[in-house]
Amino acid sequence: MTTAKVQIDGNEYELPVFQGSEQETGIDIASLRGASKAITFDPGYGNTGSCKSAITFIDGEKGILRHRGYAIEDLAAHATFTKVAYLMMNGELPNADELKAFESAINKDLSVPQGISSLVEQFPTTAHPMSVVSSAIAAFSSFYPDYDQDSALAANAQRLMGHIVTVATAYYRRTQGETPIAYDDSLGYCGNFLKMMYAKGDGYEVPESLENALNMLLIVHADHEQNCSTSTVRMVGSSQAPLFASISAGVSALWGPLHGGANQAVIEMLQEIQDQGGDYEKSMEMAKDKESGFRLMGFGHRVYKNFDPRATILKAACDRVLDELGVEDPLLDIAKNLERIALEDEYFVKRNLYPNVDFYSGIIYRAMGIPVDMFTVMFAIGRMPGWIAHWLEQHGEGGKIHRPRQIYTGENFRSYPV
Ligand code: SDX
Repeated sequence: MTTAKVQIDGNEYELPVFQGSEQETGIDIASLRGASKAITFDPGYGNTGSCKSAITFIDGEKGILRHRGYAIEDLAAHATFTKVAYLMMNGELPNADELKAFESAINKDLSVPQGISSLVEQFPTTAHPMSVVSSAIAAFSSFYPDYDQDSALAANAQRLMGHIVTVATAYYRRTQGETPIAYDDSLGYCGNFLKMMYAKGDGYEVPESLENALNMLLIVHADHEQNCSTSTVRMVGSSQAPLFASISAGVSALWGPLHGGANQAVIEMLQEIQDQGGDYEKSMEMAKDKESGFRLMGFGHRVYKNFDPRATILKAACDRVLDELGVEDPLLDIAKNLERIALEDEYFVKRNLYPNVDFYSGIIYRAMGIPVDMFTVMFAIGRMPGWIAHWLEQHGEGGKIHRPRQIYTGENFRSYPV
């Protein structure tokens, strides 16, 4: 433990400095305001650590992403999503019995209370699926009396993993004029998602290439340390609000196009470029012109100032999955050309703007037949174990309520006109 010194108006204040297990250095400013009346100022929290965590490590400069010490490349290549979810929540990979029990419990939670099914049926078929999913998850607390009991934390985590699939697929089927399909206990998590989404009557065979693609997509979305939606889950959970309420807030935060909503925005951007004749050079020029209001969606990242390792995995998967599915998508060619130009363009290079996880994921979802307005729901399904793991980590520590300070810039005292 060393110290950092801050000088304010000729006074010097010492602050403790500590390091994490990957030698990241943190300056503990907890005593700063009490000693100096000053606070730090960091809009968007780009340089501020909100917590210590043992779940995920990111090195943005080196393009490293690890969950509980395992590299995302290894997990995406060799693990199943349910194994990664168990690892995220419990800290270790499950043995065969632990995995079987975990998967069996989640499968059972692919069946939801009738009230949740009825709730999903109330939404207009024009609703954005993220509004349906965030509302339904908030409502889970109304259907489970043990929603706020520590003794039910594992049960509620499994309910979230299962129920989000059922809500998402039931709503999608409703928009297609079809009734929900029950889960099949002989199938795994991804197989059940595909069956509950696409089966038409009996005899649906889960396409292995789709099941493998979905497994990989969910793994690369499983967690990403203190991103906007995970920080939201922690913020809401810090008031000791129940797990379901905290996760519902995380879904809402993910919806924004600067965050998880980017995967939908990327495809809409690529489609617009194609519809306007495929002039991707023009789009690149617009992206560099602040006045244009146009951003190259799926590019840039607050933390990665090198390649997002997930984008590298997904770009390779695009070619493989589209080939396996026999799908040719002109939007993939446009995406690759945008990336090629950006990587050579001074504007993007100077700002370290590389493709992020959202740049290629939509191409694969599209090839799988997932509707564009459900892309961010797919992100939420993948991120669910990460959100739960962070909520459990914080809950277990009994952390303080999150309550940032501010610098007031409004009117000074003035008398009320009487
Ligand atoms: C996710 O945090 C996470 O971990 C998130 C996530 C996760 O797994 O949870 O990784 C998932 O949300 C990925 C990001 C998805 N969003 C997008 O793809 C939207 C497009 N990207 C941007 O809006 C932006 O890059 C952000 C929001 C991702 C990051 O924004 P920052 O860190 O606040 O960066 P910034 O807006 O301050 O930009 C820095 C500069 C600016 O130019 P200057 O003022 O320096 O001249 O880069 C420019 C920006 O104008 N810039 C872009 C750009 N992104 C940044 N210019 C054109 N196109 C872009 N996409």
